[in-house]
Amino acid sequence: MKTIYPEQYKHIVFFTGAGMSAESGVPTYRGHGGIWSRYRWEEYACQEAFDADPDKVLKFHELRRAAVLACKPHAGHSAIAALEKKHQRITVVTQNIDGMHQRAGNRKVIELHGSLWRLRCPYDGVSEDIGEKYKSYKCEKCGNWLRPDIIWFGDSLDQGVMNEAIAAIRHCDLFVSIGTSGVVYPAAGFPRFAKENNARCIEINPEANEMSLLYDEAIRNTAEKALTEIFR
Ligand code: APR
Repeated sequence: MKTIYPEQYKHIVFFTGAGMSAESGVPTYRGHGGIWSRYRWEEYACQEAFDADPDKVLKFHELRRAAVLACKPHAGHSAIAALEKKHQRITVVTQNIDGMHQRAGNRKVIELHGSLWRLRCPYDGVSEDIGEKYKSYKCEKCGNWLRPDIIWFGDSLDQGVMNEAIAAIRHCDLFVSIGTSGVVYPAAGFPRFAKENNARCIEINPEANEMSLLYDEAIRNTAEKALTEIFR
């Protein structure tokens, strides 16, 4: 694998999906053993499911929180965090809700699909809740059910968060996508935005997918192995 010299770039964007956390033990969504092959998202990951049975949906998310807390960020996460510590200008744009990049030490993380560690009241806004179990299923102020602050199937992305991600991608000169199947909007369009700035676009994924042809280079290896090899 070739070495990448980060100091040659003014702004690096890492765009990560579930494959980024796979070597930490967090399951991916699709494919063998994926979350959506074991659970029907229609029952656990959409507003309709929450409206029908909020208790069941919150319990499912508590299981996910416990599973993620049992995992640790791997050396690939640390390699990205180390670049930020060295004052390299980087932005992490992630589809992951697991908070692994932050646990590894990254501060500039744009979470496109929300976070497992936040809850949202329809009247009193968003609150952080970081334990294995939620402190409460209901808002202490108004008594309404709190819903995970996650972009579920059928939800729109937060336009402000999306704009922030696109602005970073349009200004980067190295775009590294890691561990995403690229099937869920807006992942598919991101390399095109990077190309507008003539950024070098690299895909890290053991498997090719429909979006692979948008990249200049593919590293067909896993996230941890590839990141620790290329950013030495
Ligand atoms: N290293 C790198 N990539 C890997 C690894 C690994 N160790 N293991 C698997 N992958 C790749 C797979 O080849 C696949 O392309 O990670 C990708 C995981 O794809 P998905 O499970 O579809 O995850 P993701 O692309 O993040 O899903 C997008 O879909 O269900 C929604 O909201 C959910 O954020 C999620 C979104």
